[in-house]
Amino acid sequence: MVEQVQIGNATLYCGDCREILPLIGAVDTVISDPVWPNCPEGLLQGSNDPEGLLRGCLDLVEARRLVLVVRSDSDPRFFRAVPERWPFFRTQILPYVMPGYIGRKLGGDELAYSFGEPIPSSPGRRVIPGYAPKVQPVGRKANGHPCSRSLKHFEWLVDWWSLEGETVLDPFMGSGTTGAAATTLGRKFIGIEIDPKYFDLACKRIDDAGRQGDMLLSEPTKSPKTSL
Ligand SMILES: C[S@@+](CC[C@H](N)C(=O)[O-])C[C@H]1O[C@@H](n2cnc3c(N)ncnc32)[C@H](O)[C@@H]1O
Repeated sequence: MVEQVQIGNATLYCGDCREILPLIGAVDTVISDPVWPNCPEGLLQGSNDPEGLLRGCLDLVEARRLVLVVRSDSDPRFFRAVPERWPFFRTQILPYVMPGYIGRKLGGDELAYSFGEPIPSSPGRRVIPGYAPKVQPVGRKANGHPCSRSLKHFEWLVDWWSLEGETVLDPFMGSGTTGAAATTLGRKFIGIEIDPKYFDLACKRIDDAGRQGDMLLSEPTKSPKTSL
């Protein structure tokens, strides 16, 4: 049984993305931070075979653009899992105001790899930048998820890789950073998370992001949980 929650323009599913994606039609952009290649085994579901998980997921996705975020120490050969139908476009650095340590290595920045079509060229958006603004590091388990990403970085990615009113998908939603960013920026959002405790966290963050944007509305936009 798959749990589905509608919060404003966000449709959120709790379950395995490989079971849920066949129920979802085409989207504009995927922005996601999948389980990464050197994820400590057991930290997250899927950490025993991250490349197989990503391949199994992307085989089921129909989207024009794909943006995948990994830490700078993640082996990029992981992206062999990206199907040929999305040509590689570019990388962008998501930096922090101070470098973090990853074991003995300095530099906890993340990288966004983008594939497929860029957004249409328009005034002020002809040159796609290689660096996001520097942000404060997100503390480990800052919001109860072991690898929650920076909301500011994800707002920047949503802004560069989708247009207002388009649909953004995150099949590995975690604590809902992509969904909160998409909601704030007026995108429709579809999110999937397999772990119920992170799913509940994502629902709350996306609801909060919607309320902040909807301060003038008197009625709450959240509808009750349903099951598929
Ligand atoms: C790297 S984390 C995403 C973190 C997220 N960007 C955030 O800011 O909180 C990847 C997430 O994918 C989830 N996951 C693992 N296997 C999955 C699957 N088969 N379907 C859906 N989600 C899955 C994990 O539980 C984890 O929360």
